[in-house]
Amino acid sequence: MEEQIDWSSLSFGYRKTDYNVRCTFENGKWGELRVSDSEEVTMHMAATCLHYGQAGFEGMKAFRGKDGKIRVFRMDENAKRLQSTCNGILMAPLPDGLFEEAVKKVVKLNERWVPPYESGASLYIRPVLFGTGAQVGVHPADKYEFIVFVMPVGPYFKDGFKATPCCILRHYDRAAPYGTGRWKVGGNYAASLVPGTKAHEMGYSAVLYLDARSKKFIDEAGPANFFGIEGNKYVTPDSESILPSITNKSLMQIARDLGMEVEQRPMPEEELSKLDEAAMCGTAAVVAPIYKVDDLDENKTYQILPDAKPGPVCTKLYETLRAIQYGDLEDKHGWVYVFE
Ligand code: PLP
Ligand code: COI
Repeated sequence: MEEQIDWSSLSFGYRKTDYNVRCTFENGKWGELRVSDSEEVTMHMAATCLHYGQAGFEGMKAFRGKDGKIRVFRMDENAKRLQSTCNGILMAPLPDGLFEEAVKKVVKLNERWVPPYESGASLYIRPVLFGTGAQVGVHPADKYEFIVFVMPVGPYFKDGFKATPCCILRHYDRAAPYGTGRWKVGGNYAASLVPGTKAHEMGYSAVLYLDARSKKFIDEAGPANFFGIEGNKYVTPDSESILPSITNKSLMQIARDLGMEVEQRPMPEEELSKLDEAAMCGTAAVVAPIYKVDDLDENKTYQILPDAKPGPVCTKLYETLRAIQYGDLEDKHGWVYVFE
């Protein structure tokens, strides 16, 4: 029996779909892709993902266009980033092409879960790769599992495209300069749970982390990168401890295409007072404008916008990105894989 879904009021959360795809690394090699309808994983109690955090993931989306066709955004970039995460925490990297094959397969198998064009929702694709081999000494596993599952989602920050407040909490770091921040490793998100929950309890949508070394420069938010707009300039932090966001990279290109100047460089916290607009960006967050940043330990407020109404540049960037993703604008950089 078909479940009735109100696609346009979906939030960002887990939902069971029909199938996931899986692949196992053992005896020194990756096996064949398998299709599963189970939501469960069975593994050894000494699996390295459980004790030593050998786990990484990705996040991407599929969109249904006006023409009914399904499009996936920049999956080659997510494939490369997962390889880099694997190299970063010594997990077995996937053979070339396996990531893309798994994503195409799982989207096709769950086609009925890709929300309709009009809803503005999308299918979130979550690849995850983790060590399942047993170790009690701190060593990499000799067995790994790669799973890709999907679910229809709405906006990550509730109410969708609306400006929200962020805060700086100086007594927490999510990643260190030579730590794992530049990879999509599970432990980075564990480190963000206490500050993230505190921020939510105080009414902020996210923590804006400063660099752990000097606490002078902006790094990123817990689940998204940060950028600011200064006149005709798009400015985004350069730092060893932030995740290289594919959305941010795409927005930098879109900004250039729109005739803006783009700067990726260390961004001192005080620069917040010069910004005309600011936002978080990521697959889940898309473009999430920020109207103020409170530095709670320093008792300072950076008021960026007067209220929750997004500024014109963030609006243009958001609309352009979405239009490319849904197939309403020409994909001139070859970012979109279309299912024919
Ligand atoms: N930064 C962090 C810490 C994230 O978890 C994400 C989400 O993936 C991003 C940035 C945005 O990256 P992307 O645009 O590739 O989704
Ligand atoms: C994403 O944007 O895909 C993320 O991974 C962010 C968050 C849900 C962890």
